[in-house]
Amino acid sequence: MMKKALLTLIALAGACTFTQAQDAKAGDAKAGAGKAAMCIGCHGIIGYQATFPEVYKVPKIAGQGAKYIVASLQAYQKGDRKHPTMRGISASLTEQDMADLAAFYEQQGQGGAAAPEQLAKPVPDALKDRLAACTACHGANFSKPIDPAYPRLAGQHADYLYAALRSYETDGNPHVGRSNAVMRSQVIQEADGKKKPTFQNAELKQVAAYLASLPGDLKTVPQARMR
Ligand code: HEC
Ligand code: HEC
Repeated sequence: MMKKALLTLIALAGACTFTQAQDAKAGDAKAGAGKAAMCIGCHGIIGYQATFPEVYKVPKIAGQGAKYIVASLQAYQKGDRKHPTMRGISASLTEQDMADLAAFYEQQGQGGAAAPEQLAKPVPDALKDRLAACTACHGANFSKPIDPAYPRLAGQHADYLYAALRSYETDGNPHVGRSNAVMRSQVIQEADGKKKPTFQNAELKQVAAYLASLPGDLKTVPQARMR
């Protein structure tokens, strides 16, 4: 019967995805430490700012989840994330490199958190209430994502978070923007064929400042050139 054949096909497709996930490379933090030489010029300097295409601090990646680090590196490599520098860097990485670097940076987060950024002014409760929906994925205190491939946000740099949130609103620009459908649906609402942002820019700035003020595992670990 057609229906049965279809079900078998769906089951098979499911099985393939599963095998692929199983085949994901296991990372070796030690090997990753050796490969991080080309990252530390930016991710190993506290407060270092990227200047192109926009000025904001490079994200803290020490203490970020390994699965998310790999997912984001793959997104730059594939072009789902358009940031030119990270696209160039990820182009040179193999799957094994990504897994090793991810294991290294996740491990660097262990032991002591960075001090979160101070809030300049309190975030309105009404806005905080709207963020409850975000914790469905980003987890309690924005620090325990429900899926290891989702990012930790608590304690990340506010200016980076703002740029990241804006990037999910951006489509069709070769240098900026991210095409992730899950996050796009969070920041863009579509009704009657019209797109409109879920949050005003001023609200996104407050959201970013709020997330940056939460205690979490993220930090920048300063590193000597090579040991
Ligand atoms: C020239 C500076 C620079 C270098 C070198 C660099 N990065 Fe980045 N990295 C950035 C910037 C800037 C961003 C934010 C890009 C964006 O807005 O999407 C970023 C983003 C990332 C992210 C995504 C973080 C997140 O929260 O989504 C990861 C993971 C990452 N870099 C890992 C690495 C690794 C691993 C290396 C070395 C192989 C490296 N980077 C080298 C500047 C750099
Ligand atoms: C359905 C699950 C889900 C929900 C709900 C969700 N997110 Fe996300 N979020 C993700 C995923 C997955 C990513 C990684 C996307 C990518 O690869 O670029 C992400 C990425 C982000 C990033 C970029 C982090 C970085 O390090 O670059 C920010 C900021 C963010 N989310 C904030 C929010 C906010 C604020 C909300 C609520 C308005 C929200 N998210 C709701 C799943 C979700």
